[in-house]
Amino acid sequence: MEYTNIIKRINNKICYLTINRPKFLNALNNSTITELSSVIKSINKDISVRCVIITGSEKKAFVAGADIKEFSSFNKKQGKLLSKSGHDNLFNLIENLDIPCIAAINGFALGGGLELAMASHIRIASTNAKLGFPEVTLGVIPGYGGTQRLPQLVGKGIAFEMITTGKMISAEEALNIGLVNKVCNQEDLLDTCEEIANRIIGNSPVAISKAIKSINACYKSGVDGFKTEIELFGSCFETEDFEEGTKAFMEKRKPNYN
Ligand code: CAA
Repeated sequence: MEYTNIIKRINNKICYLTINRPKFLNALNNSTITELSSVIKSINKDISVRCVIITGSEKKAFVAGADIKEFSSFNKKQGKLLSKSGHDNLFNLIENLDIPCIAAINGFALGGGLELAMASHIRIASTNAKLGFPEVTLGVIPGYGGTQRLPQLVGKGIAFEMITTGKMISAEEALNIGLVNKVCNQEDLLDTCEEIANRIIGNSPVAISKAIKSINACYKSGVDGFKTEIELFGSCFETEDFEEGTKAFMEKRKPNYN
C-alpha cells in the first residue's frame, strides 16, 4: 500500500513510522488512521521487525489530535462510529501488538495524539513537548481511549484534572506524573528511543510478545491477569527462544534470537 500521510522506514529491525501531515500539525484524519492501521497490521506480521517507533514529522507536533475540521459537522451516529472505528482499527491494535511500540513525542501531543502515545507501550518526550486533552474546550470528550488509559497511567485524580481543565502540561510535568518514561532534547529523541529499542531487540521476541499480552491482561475487564500470566509463563517452556535463552546462560554466551 502507498502511504500519503505516513512515512515508513525499516532499519536494523526497527520500524520508524512518521506521521506526515505537517500543515495540520499531523492531525489524525480518517485516511491517516486507515493508513496507520494498515501499516501496523503489516508490521505485526513482519518477523524482521522487532520494535516500532512512532513520531511526528512537524518539529513542533507529534499529533495535534483528531482532525477537528473533518468531524465538526458529524452527527451522533457518525461521532460514535468515529470513536469505535478508531478504537477497533488503530488504538487497540497498537496496544495489543506482538512487538513493543515506542511513541517519540516530539512536540504537541493533544487529544487523539496523546491517545496514540498512550496506546503505545513506552513514551519518550522531547523537552518542547506539550501534552493534554483539549476535547472539553471543543464540546466533546476524549474518544480514542483517553478517559480509560489516562487514569491507568497517572491515576484517577490527575486524569480528572487533565481532562476537565483541558490544560496542556510540559514534558517535565508529564514525567513527574508518570505519563512519559523519559524526557530528552529534541535532537536526542530518536537516539534515546533507539537505545531502548536496541535493548528490546536483543531479547526473546516470543517472550516479549507474551509479556505484552500478560501486562495488558491486567487492564482487561473480566480477565484474570494472574491466570493469564500462569498460562503464558507455561507456554514459554515449549519455545525455541526458551531453549536458546537458557542454553546461552549455561554456555555463558549471549543468546541469539535471530
Ligand atoms: N485538527 C485539524 N486541524 C488542526 C488540528 C486538529 N486537531 N490542530 C491543528 N490544526 C491545523 C490548524 O487548523 C492550522 O491549519 P490552518 O492554517 O489551515 O488553519 C494548522 O494546523 C496549524 O495550526 P495553528 O495555526 O493552530 O498552530 P498554532 O501553533 O497556533 O497552535 C495548537 C497549535 C495549540 C496545537 C492548535 O493548533 C490547536 O489547538 N489545535 C487543536 C488541538 C486539539 O484541540 N486537539 C484535540 C482534537 S479533538 C480529539 O482529538 C478527539 C478525540 O479524542 C478523538
